[in-house]
Amino acid sequence: MPAVVIVGAQWGDEGKGKATDLLGESVDYVVKPNGGNNAGHTVVIQGEKFELKLLPAGILTPGVTPVIGNGVVVDLEALTEEIEMLTARGVDTSSLRISANAHVVAPYHRTLDKVTERFLGKRAIGTTGRGIGPAYMDKVGRLGIRIQDLFDASILRQKVEGALRQKNALLVKLYNRREVDIDETTEQLLSYADMLRPMVVDTTALLNDALDRGEVVLMEGGQATFLDVDHGTYPFVTSSNPTAGGSCTGSGIGPTRVDGVIGIVKAYTTRVGAGPFPTELEDEWGEFLQRVGGEVGVNTGRPRRCGWYDALMIRYAVRVNGFTDLVLTKLDVLTGIEEVPICVAYDVDGTLHHEMPMTQTEFHHAEPVYETMPGWTEDISGCRTVEELPEAARNYVKRLEELAGCRISAIGVGPDREATIAVHDLLPGPQHSTSA
Ligand code: IMP
Repeated sequence: MPAVVIVGAQWGDEGKGKATDLLGESVDYVVKPNGGNNAGHTVVIQGEKFELKLLPAGILTPGVTPVIGNGVVVDLEALTEEIEMLTARGVDTSSLRISANAHVVAPYHRTLDKVTERFLGKRAIGTTGRGIGPAYMDKVGRLGIRIQDLFDASILRQKVEGALRQKNALLVKLYNRREVDIDETTEQLLSYADMLRPMVVDTTALLNDALDRGEVVLMEGGQATFLDVDHGTYPFVTSSNPTAGGSCTGSGIGPTRVDGVIGIVKAYTTRVGAGPFPTELEDEWGEFLQRVGGEVGVNTGRPRRCGWYDALMIRYAVRVNGFTDLVLTKLDVLTGIEEVPICVAYDVDGTLHHEMPMTQTEFHHAEPVYETMPGWTEDISGCRTVEELPEAARNYVKRLEELAGCRISAIGVGPDREATIAVHDLLPGPQHSTSA
């Protein structure tokens, strides 16, 4: 009865959508446990490109039940748009299930996200502007609206009123904006109730029953380790827990039921938004990775900041997530680089660090220390086994594995779903033997 978790090991956009989709054939349920429509997955199926922001990538695999877990914040407008977009392209979305306990991103959360960022000025986080932070603030502050509230009009009105009493004071007095109307907001939210009703269930019961029956549940964490509000580069993080533990909380599947934790790692590093980034390249190599890797944010269209692979980050990600396997993506992007640098230590004001420093101040001061590996020039996009890779590429992968302290079980060599080298079976359990 394997329950498997997928987590981004860096700052997001590692290609989790592709990994999820790759496993999709053997998986019965794909759960999104955290985040909202701040995510961005690009999945290419037979040359056709799908961009998803809110829905789990499993929605593209026939036979898979996609589930939005209790830990997600759901923007109902974005949900409707995404369902309509997929339906128009012939994808059946009728099996989608949403937790009654998931929180709603209300229109005022989006407004607050934008005004708060403006208010922060130089200290802005560079959020996606989707209202994610304010929605999670309300959840933790016990002022949130949950999906189930849309099925009780009088409770919904009370909750909207409770939330807006505080928000309107902020909007008008601090941010100099117009007041948000309570009735209008309530009506707007209620207008989604009929559309939602058939999709909303007790997803914890749904998923645990599925595990009891021996079905495979994949939890696909949104964002990534270094955007985790606890373990990431705070405050330049998102407002949820994308690390492995957050998948349990965000789906109601207990940790004892999780059999595998798969970290997704890009063969180099990217970041969207503000915050420290020791291996960032502001030269022609940064442009190279950006151009060849197509590094533009799916969600906001912002170019991603690019840099070399950072082995300290990955070792830390292995530690805080307890990864059992790594999936290395976009190895093909490094083709043609004569000497490929890997960051193996930080120089922090003259002191050498081989592990992530304890404080954010040290991380801000970290200067990367590189070792280099010989590169390769052969086109690797057609390789389907490790043996087919040029020796230099094999050595690069082997070195990353050593430095991470975790095995690399799949290697992405191109954007298409098929362009992957499977090294070890990613699904544990009797019917999915692991060839270590
Ligand atoms: P928020 O999640 O919109 O509040 O944004 C907080 C930070 O997380 C910003 O730096 C965003 O660019 C970043 N972020 C949020 N979601 C993603 C993602 O899916 N990929 C990469 N970065 C993300």
